[in-house]
Amino acid sequence: MRLSFLIGLVIFFASPSIAAVFAAETTTVHIETRDQLLILSANEQGRVYYSYYGPKQDAPEKLPLLGEAYPCAGGDFVREPALRAVHADGNTSTLLVYQSQETKKIDDNITETKIHLKDAYYPFFVTLVYKAYFQENLIAASTEIRHEENAPVTIDHYASQVLPFKADSYYMTQFHGSWANEANMVEEKLTPGIKILDSKRGVRAHEMRSPFFLFSPNHAAEENQGMVYGCTLAWSGSFQFAFEVDEKNTLCVTMGANPFASQLTLEAGKTLATPEMLTVCSAAGTGPMSRDYHAWGRKYGVRDGSNVRGILLNNWEATYFNFDHDKLVKLFQGAKDAGFELFLLDDGWFANKYPRNNDKAGLGDWEHNRQKLPRGVAGLCEEAKRIGIPFGIWVEPEMVNPKSELYENHPDWVIGQPHRPLDLFRNQLILDLTNPVVKDFSYHVTADLLTQNPYIGFIKWDANRYVSNGGSFYLPPEKQTELVWRYHEALYDNMAKTAEAFPDVRMMLCSGGAGRIDYKALSYFHEFWPSDNTNPMKRIYIQWGFSHFFPAMTQAAHVTSSGDSGIKFAFDVAMSCRLGMDMDLERMSRDDFEFTKMAISEYKRIRDVVQLGGLYRLISPYESPRSSLMYVNDDKSRAILFVYQMKDDTRENKSVALQGLDPNGVYSVREINTKAPILKDSVSIRGEALMQGNMSIPLDKKATSMVLELTREK
Ligand code: DGJ
Repeated sequence: MRLSFLIGLVIFFASPSIAAVFAAETTTVHIETRDQLLILSANEQGRVYYSYYGPKQDAPEKLPLLGEAYPCAGGDFVREPALRAVHADGNTSTLLVYQSQETKKIDDNITETKIHLKDAYYPFFVTLVYKAYFQENLIAASTEIRHEENAPVTIDHYASQVLPFKADSYYMTQFHGSWANEANMVEEKLTPGIKILDSKRGVRAHEMRSPFFLFSPNHAAEENQGMVYGCTLAWSGSFQFAFEVDEKNTLCVTMGANPFASQLTLEAGKTLATPEMLTVCSAAGTGPMSRDYHAWGRKYGVRDGSNVRGILLNNWEATYFNFDHDKLVKLFQGAKDAGFELFLLDDGWFANKYPRNNDKAGLGDWEHNRQKLPRGVAGLCEEAKRIGIPFGIWVEPEMVNPKSELYENHPDWVIGQPHRPLDLFRNQLILDLTNPVVKDFSYHVTADLLTQNPYIGFIKWDANRYVSNGGSFYLPPEKQTELVWRYHEALYDNMAKTAEAFPDVRMMLCSGGAGRIDYKALSYFHEFWPSDNTNPMKRIYIQWGFSHFFPAMTQAAHVTSSGDSGIKFAFDVAMSCRLGMDMDLERMSRDDFEFTKMAISEYKRIRDVVQLGGLYRLISPYESPRSSLMYVNDDKSRAILFVYQMKDDTRENKSVALQGLDPNGVYSVREINTKAPILKDSVSIRGEALMQGNMSIPLDKKATSMVLELTREK
């Protein structure tokens, strides 16, 4: 961070029609990472503005005041506010002015800058917090709000960050979807007015759209060139991204928790810290942006991100609820024989009065089902240990079926409203974690299971419904609008306690697919389940979408019998992320079992490149009948190329231009993961030639694919 003092208020005409106000006699704050620079300036009245956010080399010498850094409602600002507070005396306006700033070097890589603002009249304080991760090129922005007024202040807008931009036009890409149809990319040119991407679902809030977007000024986002900003909110509750283009064609993006029905009461002396908004800007397209997110994610965003993930067999799509002890033990043996590194038992293993034989009953009653598992979870652990396969188990600790003993005993433990009929989704309700007794119960679902069965090495933590009838039977009337906020405080506390108490247990984040995928929840987990849609044709799009923000090691990709593209295609798609399988090995043909064994051993050899290497998205499934991506390890000595033919295509030109290789290196290129190679022998090609597209991938039929392993010879 640098301080500088600029002289004189300047009105500058950047174009004939646009007047820009420049910073004057004022303090500026510089926040920088490897490639990006964010500059804030205070004007003569002490109001703090963004002056620049973009690549270092493009920063202007004279700093415009683009838009206020944390615009507040009720005063002279009349658009979507970052903050709306009702002060103790009923004043509905807030006027923030600069007080001071501080910079702390957390370590060699992370610098934290705090800009302290205060209301011009009230003892009401807002601190803008920026954590700059230098090498990974990421800025985490959040806001702290507190006051010393003589009575509580109510706050109903408390954005994490606001970013103003000035350009001729603006393009935004959202990642929308629904259950089994996650992370679809749609780009649009923003028009005057306001466009809002949001969720009002409280829990499982990301079901209809993921909490991230791309934004690029003056042109559509491109993979390998042009400015692009990636933004993602590290929070699992309802969120709002508001894109407001005003009459002067300035864009203001307001990002954070959704203000909808979320009023909080802030006591004097207490601090409200908003979720972090994680942004990366790239001057060379979405490719480098994603590689920065991945590097950050592996180092700071997920647990144990420097170690590769194991390959697991999950019984969900193999058996659904229909299994028993003997069946599972056979699957353990098959998993061991095929080379899997863990067996994951999914839903359906618990409840007796109302057995969990479908999704209508039993949720909440976490005692093993005595009919299916006469020897209990302990008996399964014994068998898994005997066979030598690590064991994991599914839980959904925040939920309850009304048809359960838990609900019979504690009908007031759920989220709901008095005098309203129950609104069931997937036949279930959410437990009200704002109630400390319920929160404790929920924690012990997982903790007791792990304590009693120390052989369990993996937890899949699911959450299959959203908030409707959003009330708490625990919170007092004046705190009802705090439900979603307080729920998440309690949830994160339980997740953190679980991660701390069981540091060696790997955890998968799941919410009926990707209903809860964000970097806050992921900080307690190792990986996530991107979708219940496991058809590889659809998974190519879903994985492509999530790959913009999350590294391959976090995306659980399982081979199943969904779709009709055959086992090789399914493996080739799954092997580009964290490989697993949901199939009944006993019912598999001999050929498919043999293929599975071979694919697992191939994946074990290449997974360090896939999970820890740099991702290059080569051909988008949205733009071509084929899709392709590759991973390159740090010293460029190894790379893995995946090519998927998604539609029949008889065009002549089949070349794929690779990226990220050493141009002067000579690579031996070998087809892997096949019993019938198209490329019969390995070939040696210079990196430069490979990157110029001098290699043809002769696929033309739908649902065919190739995986190539590249090893530098010299
Ligand atoms: C939803 C998950 O996405 C599935 O993988 C499975 O775990 C089911 N829940 C179990 O109910």
